[in-house]
Amino acid sequence: MALWSGRFEQSVSEFTQRFGASLEVDKKMARQDIQGSIAHARMLAEQGVITWTDFEHIEVGLLEIENQIRQGRFKYDINDEDIHMSVEGELIEDIGAAGQRLHTGRSRNDQVATDIRLLAKSMLLTLMAENYSLRKVIIRSARKNFGTVMPGYTHMQHAQPVLFSHHLLAYFWMFTRDFKRLNDAYQAADANPLGSAALAGTTYPLDRFRTTELLGFDHPIPNSMDAVSDRDYLLDLLYACSVSMMHLSRLCEEIITWSTTEFGFITLSDEYSTGSSIMPQKKNPDFAELTRGKVGRVYGSLMGLLTTMKGIPLAYNKDLQECKEGAIDAFDTLRDAMICMEGMIDTWTVHEDVMHEEASMGFTAATDVADYLAKRGVPFRKAHEIVGELVLYCEKKHKGLEDLTLKEFRKASPYFSEDIVGELDPEAIARARTTYGGTGHDAVRVQLKEANTQLRRDRNRVKAIRERGGVIE
Ligand code: ARG
Repeated sequence: MALWSGRFEQSVSEFTQRFGASLEVDKKMARQDIQGSIAHARMLAEQGVITWTDFEHIEVGLLEIENQIRQGRFKYDINDEDIHMSVEGELIEDIGAAGQRLHTGRSRNDQVATDIRLLAKSMLLTLMAENYSLRKVIIRSARKNFGTVMPGYTHMQHAQPVLFSHHLLAYFWMFTRDFKRLNDAYQAADANPLGSAALAGTTYPLDRFRTTELLGFDHPIPNSMDAVSDRDYLLDLLYACSVSMMHLSRLCEEIITWSTTEFGFITLSDEYSTGSSIMPQKKNPDFAELTRGKVGRVYGSLMGLLTTMKGIPLAYNKDLQECKEGAIDAFDTLRDAMICMEGMIDTWTVHEDVMHEEASMGFTAATDVADYLAKRGVPFRKAHEIVGELVLYCEKKHKGLEDLTLKEFRKASPYFSEDIVGELDPEAIARARTTYGGTGHDAVRVQLKEANTQLRRDRNRVKAIRERGGVIE
C-alpha cells in the first residue's frame, strides 16, 4: 500500500509502478536518507514535536535498517517507488507508531533534495581526493624524467624542443583547475533544504539551523521553493566532471599516439594494455581509448540534465527524479577514469632516447637559429626569412640543420659563426627558455615547486572537509 493510500481507491498499475520508480538509482543514497531522517527526528524531539522515546525508537530502527543495507540483508520491496518509501515503510513495520511520526513536518520533496545534496558532497569529496592522487603521480613522473627532452608540437608538427616534465606538468595544471571546479560544486551542494517540506515550509516549529548543523551543511537554503527544486549543484558537478573527462581524454589521445610504433615515446605496462584475439603481436592502449570514449556519456549527462531542468516550473515536479542517474554515472566514470590514468602513468616506461632523438628532428631548432641572428643584429623578420630559406635548402638536400657546415650557414648569412653549433642541441634549446612558465630546466624546477605547493594546499582542503565531518564516504 502506498504512503498516500488514504486518498486513493486503487493502486497504480504494475506498469506505472515500474515506470515511476527510482528505487534502483536511489539505493546509492540509502545511507544519506537514513542520516537525514535521524537528524530530522532528533530536531523534532528537541523542538518537542515528538517525544524522546519516539526519537530513540526511530534512531535505533533506522540504524538497524542501515546495518541491514550495509550487509546486503535489507529486503527491498519492489512496490516501493523510492528509497524514502522503502526505508520509512520498513521502519513503520519494525517500530510501529513512532515510525509513523517520522514524516512530521517533512515531505519527500525536501527529503530527496537533502539526500541528493549529501550524496553530491560525498561524490565530490571522493573525486577531489582522487584528483589529488592523480596529480601526485603526475608530479612523480615529471620528477623521475626530469631533463628528458622531447619535441613540442603545434598542429601535430614538430615545433620546439620541450622538457617531457614540462609537457606533463601542463596536465597537472589542467587537473588543478578541475579540482577547483569540483570544490566549487562541493560548495554549491553544501546547503540544507531540509525543513522546506513540500514547498512552503511548515507550521511545526522546525529548527532548520539545527538540522543544518547535524548534517554538516554550511547553511540552510533561504527559500523553501528554491530549496526543493534546485538541482544547479548537480549541473556544477556534471560540468566539473565533463571538463575533467575532456582533460583526461586529451592526455589519453597523447598516450595513444606516444605508444604507436611511429612515435615509440612510451610503452604502457601490460596491466594497462590488451592484446588481440587474432594478431599475436598486438599491444593495444584500450584503457586510454575507453576513457576517451567515455567522455561522451558524461557530456551526455550534462546535456541531459540541462534539458530536463529547462521547463520545470516551481516547485517540485516529478521530472526532477531524472536528475540523479546521470550525476551518479558521471561520478563513477570520472572516478574510474582518474584511477586508470593514475595507474597508466605510474607504470609506463618512458623512452628518453627516442624522445631525445625526435626532439631535434623536423627543424625544431629553427626558431633558435633565427633568434641567434636576431641577437646579432639581424632584424627578426629578416632572420626568420633567412632561416626559412635554410630549411628549404636542407629539405632539398635531405639534411637537418645540424648537418650543415659552417660554410653553408655563412652562405645564408655572414652573421653565423662556429658557436651556431651550440644552438642546435635540443637540450640547450630547451634549457635556454628561462622565462617564468617556460620549458627551461630552471623554470621547470620553479614550476615543480609551485605545483607541490598547490598540491599541498589542495590536500589540506580535502583534509579540512573530512575533519569537519558529515560527509558520508
Ligand atoms: N522519488 C522522488 C524523486 O526522486 C522523490 C520525491 C517525490 N515527491 C513527489 N511529490 N512525488 O524525485
